[in-house]
Amino acid sequence: MLDLFNLAGRTALVTGANTGLGQGIALALAAAGADIVVAGRSPADDTAAQVRALGRRFLDVRADLSSTAPVRDVVAAAVNLNGRLDIVVNNAGIIRRADSVDVDEADWDAVIDTNLKSVFFLSQAAARHMAAHGGGKIVNIASLLSFQGGIRVPAYAASKSAIAGLTRALANEWAAQGINVNAIAPGYFDTNNTAALRADPVREPAILARIPAGRWGQPGDLAGAAVFLASRASDYVHGVVLPVDGGWLAR
Ligand SMILES: NC(=O)c1ccc[n+]([C@@H]2O[C@H](COP(=O)([O-])OP(=O)(O)OC[C@H]3O[C@@H](n4cnc5c(N)ncnc54)[C@H](OP(=O)(O)O)[C@@H]3O)[C@@H](O)[C@H]2O)c1
Repeated sequence: MLDLFNLAGRTALVTGANTGLGQGIALALAAAGADIVVAGRSPADDTAAQVRALGRRFLDVRADLSSTAPVRDVVAAAVNLNGRLDIVVNNAGIIRRADSVDVDEADWDAVIDTNLKSVFFLSQAAARHMAAHGGGKIVNIASLLSFQGGIRVPAYAASKSAIAGLTRALANEWAAQGINVNAIAPGYFDTNNTAALRADPVREPAILARIPAGRWGQPGDLAGAAVFLASRASDYVHGVVLPVDGGWLAR
């Protein structure tokens, strides 16, 4: 049974994996056996050291995913590591907080371009390869704001709600080609993305009090869901958005 979750011989691309949830996911996939390619703006030296310590191959590709310009080269570099690309985790993302009446167009575009547009075109480039090589797994990182509106983050909520729709749209089209497209919706996790919330003396206790599990998530809390959606164990799972949120949405 456990062999269903074994990723030995697979190559996984994780975007934005120098820190936070992407790093946690990259380490989980490596622990399950996958070689790891990361793509992002910043060097991922800490991730590299931990992946290599697990005995896996590692490649760090410099790419600014606020535009779609690098996506084909990122996929080509990932394929080049082992001659195949089996898993893509679209994790890189940004959040910009402001009252909706004050949001400017540059911030709106930055969030939508990074969190949504690049995810689609990177997935498209990966799917062209996967479809020609027997299939693969695409895992998008959604959010509680794929289901809820959030506070002072209209572009982020729009981008993550669109990720839920995109996940279903791509799953419908690509399931027949052996490509599973699914998403994980993390709850409130302790990363750079939520530093402002955790430093807010009003919002932090209010958020914590609403989490049934009684604590913020840590990147390792996504390990099981990420390995599941990246492995043969999820071969008949298509188009789901799986919350990993300490029970937040059940409240
Ligand atoms: N933390 C949470 O509670 C939470 C909840 C739900 C969903 N999420 C989502 O989880 C994902 C990871 O976020 P996180 O919490 O781990 O936040 P984080 O620590 O800020 O990490 C974000 C990652 O995305 C990368 N990134 C940002 N802009 C990029 C760009 N233009 N090109 C390439 N890489 C870029 C960052 O690297 P650089 O900035 O160094 O380029 C970093 O590696 C995001 O999609 C986020 O929306 C987070």
